[in-house]
Amino acid sequence: MIEYRSTVEGITPEQLAGFFEGWPMPPTPETHRRILAASDRVELAVDAASGVVVGFVTAISDGILSAYIPLLEVRRDYRRRGIGRELMRRILARLGDLYMVDLICDAERRPFYRALGMRDAAGMMIRNWDRQSGT
Ligand SMILES: CC(C)(COP(=O)(O)OP(=O)(O)OC[C@H]1O[C@@H](n2cnc3c(N)ncnc32)[C@H](O)[C@@H]1OP(=O)(O)O)[C@@H](O)C(=O)NCCC(=O)NCCS
Repeated sequence: MIEYRSTVEGITPEQLAGFFEGWPMPPTPETHRRILAASDRVELAVDAASGVVVGFVTAISDGILSAYIPLLEVRRDYRRRGIGRELMRRILARLGDLYMVDLICDAERRPFYRALGMRDAAGMMIRNWDRQSGT
């Protein structure tokens, strides 16, 4: 059974293995935990049987007008079971009183976000690749 949590309290780095798939220089599980703790909102999917975190989404926000969703990932062995959709549904519900909720995604991911009520937009970005594992 998958349990959903809105806090990283009680979650250890050991429960956070297996994320940032395909990243050349991924954050460590310790850094991942720091990211979750420093985010304004977080939603976690936990496999109740093992205690392993199998999915997460984060949001950073000014709490007044706008929020940005930088990270969403479901562990590969848990994909296509509705976990990503449920994580997004939960975090969007918690951000629903704000004017702007934005994220950047690859073109092939757009149908996933459209199905959650989001609209297409153009974006701009900077990537400091040597900082990919975190500062
Ligand atoms: C994107 C991601 C979070 C989706 O998580 P998930 O738990 O597999 O998604 P869900 O099972 O909730 O999928 C919901 C719907 O989205 C669509 N969808 C999800 N993954 C898809 C894929 N790889 N290809 C096509 N459609 C997909 C499907 O319509 C799916 O519904 P269905 O399973 O009934 O057909 C997951 O694939 C992932 O972690 N990818 C790597 C990291 C990433 O790309 N993050 C997003 C950054 S913008």
